[in-house]
Amino acid sequence: MTKIIDCFNLLDFEKAARERLPGPLFHYISGGSDDEVTKCANTSAFERYHFIPDYLRDIRKIDMRRTVFGMDLAWPLMLSPTGLSGVFHPDGERAAAQSAAGSGVAYSLSTMATTSIEEVAAACKGPKIYQLYLLKDDAANIEMIERCKAAGFDVLCLTVDTIVAGNRERDHRTGLTVPPRLNRRNLLGFARRPSWCFRYLASGGVTLPNIPTGKGNQDLGTLAAYFGANMEQNITWSRIERLMRHWGKPFVVKGLQSVADARDAVACGVAGIVVSNHGGRQLDGGAATIDLVADLVDAVGDRLEVVLDGGVRRGSHVVKALAMGARACMIGRPYLYGLSAFGKPGVDRVLSLLQQETARTLALIGCSSVDEITRCHIRPADRLPDFMHLPAAEPNTITKLTRSMK
Ligand code: FNR
Repeated sequence: MTKIIDCFNLLDFEKAARERLPGPLFHYISGGSDDEVTKCANTSAFERYHFIPDYLRDIRKIDMRRTVFGMDLAWPLMLSPTGLSGVFHPDGERAAAQSAAGSGVAYSLSTMATTSIEEVAAACKGPKIYQLYLLKDDAANIEMIERCKAAGFDVLCLTVDTIVAGNRERDHRTGLTVPPRLNRRNLLGFARRPSWCFRYLASGGVTLPNIPTGKGNQDLGTLAAYFGANMEQNITWSRIERLMRHWGKPFVVKGLQSVADARDAVACGVAGIVVSNHGGRQLDGGAATIDLVADLVDAVGDRLEVVLDGGVRRGSHVVKALAMGARACMIGRPYLYGLSAFGKPGVDRVLSLLQQETARTLALIGCSSVDEITRCHIRPADRLPDFMHLPAAEPNTITKLTRSMK
């Protein structure tokens, strides 16, 4: 069994979580949609860019502070919103939010969270984002917004890429149900993880306290079904504008990928966009977010803040995204793996390792602050050396140099 002290990078936490979670739950976190091409590309595409370091720079102090969507962060990271955290570990969203605050980064609470807006606000004084899934009924949306206002959340983030559920085939194969219920497909997966089963039963199960049904406390299955049936499939910019006015603080849209949408976001007046494909859990066959971010920054980066979400597993990934022009990055699965395997200490260690890696990468490319990172620090891995671009007839630099030395 992998211990927490044996986890030296974010991938080690995935292994630790796999060893502890029932198969259906591990695959629910880890899986993507269809062939998982976009999910895998999100991480592998970072290798398409190489660093060009500058040396002989004073890097005795590394300043990673950055203000993102009006929140002062100790380093440019935020935890992505993820539903059902309390199913993976009883410490759930409260632990993740406290960990984020301890590391000086922002936490995003999902509409599908198992901890309420008010409980998270009471447990965590750090920067907080509420992620809204838009329901058809605006009275219900306004109710969530009012609760976030009263609880002192800093940012409202509307996720727009889940208008229909992605096809996550791992969940069909493993027999995942919400709430977890035994069936022919998943029996073995749960039977192999008795510690998780005892802990979950002892905790009394979970609910979704942020979904306003108007019908008081209901069981998880009923809530999930209500949510599925009431999710808005026709989100319009004018609707967003109304909600934004009601909120009155920074408003962000998560899940945009196209320049056209980003321009509409500017016209609507949002504070920022999160370039995201939901970690490859929705549309498969789309681009990796690191391949999209520079074009979006070039199109709208002077009018709103662009944040990258998806595939970040190393500090070097954070730095590459910043070099492209992203204001910050978000991570989803890595902190869920830390939480699932070890509770709050797991999330603490995930954040601490990623922060150290980010600082080390900055130092190694010769930047003493995040504001010094530019596109000059990266280049496409497949770019040919300059001499390869010279016309064949023209003597290259080396030939010219040799001739001039004669
Ligand atoms: C998510 N994600 C997500 N996004 C969102 O806006 N609301 C949500 O409730 C959820 N729930 C959720 C559950 C689980 C288990 C996962 C793995 C993801 C997507 C999430 O916010 C984020 O976009 C991705 O996780 C980012 O990709 P990485 O970091 O996991 O590669």
